[in-house]
Amino acid sequence: MSALHAVTGDDPAIRIDVHLAQGTERRLAEDVLDGLTRPFKEIPPKHFYDSRGSELFDAICELPEYYPTRTETAILDASADAIAAVTGARELVELGSGSTAKARRLLDAMGSANGTEDLRYVPVDVSERVVREAASELVDDYPGLTVHGVVGDFERHLPQIPASDDAPRLVALLGGTIGNFTPGSRRRLLRDIAGLLGPQDHFLLGTDLVKDPEVIEAAYNDSAGITAEFNRNVLHVMNRELGADFDPAAFEHVAFFDREHEWIEMRLRAREAMRVHVADLHLDIGFEAREEMRTEVSAKFTRQRLERDFAVAGLELRDWHTDRDEAFAVSLAGRRGA
Ligand code: SAH
Ligand code: AVI
Repeated sequence: MSALHAVTGDDPAIRIDVHLAQGTERRLAEDVLDGLTRPFKEIPPKHFYDSRGSELFDAICELPEYYPTRTETAILDASADAIAAVTGARELVELGSGSTAKARRLLDAMGSANGTEDLRYVPVDVSERVVREAASELVDDYPGLTVHGVVGDFERHLPQIPASDDAPRLVALLGGTIGNFTPGSRRRLLRDIAGLLGPQDHFLLGTDLVKDPEVIEAAYNDSAGITAEFNRNVLHVMNRELGADFDPAAFEHVAFFDREHEWIEMRLRAREAMRVHVADLHLDIGFEAREEMRTEVSAKFTRQRLERDFAVAGLELRDWHTDRDEAFAVSLAGRRGA
């Protein structure tokens, strides 16, 4: 397997493969060149997540307005045992793993169903800190667990995920992260994920569901202003990584529910006309007053839409777990025909 480097450290239960040289290899430069020189400016949301961005996202998860995290966690509390029983999984591959809260629910259930010996956890995240912290916390708390972390971009590094032995595998993409992809790249990602599954493996997907737009919009316009800080964090990332001179205070946070596409759009709106210089790219970017750049979409799903996406990706829905209000869903899928 080709990793830029592999870190084994002192603990034989942990191995971490790093496929991104932090700060340089995230395709940020290409994404800025491509996305900020278009008539409608756009930067992909994966660039939010440096250490500060991951911290801000964790803070968002605690906000009263941000219902997805607590709702999905409650669904897992209610359903993890059934998921462990149906899948018989001994390995959990978590894409965009973030904090360990949801992995713990699944590992607990996998341990109760079939014992904790030989359980394996594979966190995959662009944030090296996220992967390292998850590894050390979990091996301390779960005797018998080995962690093989992957610091990488799940749009590019799925082939680098360590091959499973014959143990049934559960690949999870939780939190509604799939909603951060527009339809074409979403289906491509689902198809690539399907490629990780053997006939006995399963895919667990968390999706936020279509609901009252006011409830959705409140979740992305919190009164404490944390989501606004998270949104502006991408400007700090470009300043640090590419020598740009964005003034974050000169951009307003904008988030609204697009009823046609049934997704949230987050944007940053220039308060006034300005030019920004990106030293490392020898690039000047002009903004008109009130010009907006898109920083994220967060799609909301229906069961029918998800089933269509699964079908295109060669997957089929096996179980649908949701809360009483049908605010969020956790779907269990397998390869079609397997
Ligand atoms: N799954 C967690 C975290 C969701 S936040 C939860 O449910 O709460 C999204 C996470 O995905 C962040 O940790 C971010 O660093 C990671 N991420 C975003 N885009 C990614 C990509 N392209 N490849 C790998 N990780 C990504
Ligand atoms: C990670 N992802 C599913 C979050 C979402 O809700 O789309 C990111 C986020 N953006 C603003 N708040 C949270």
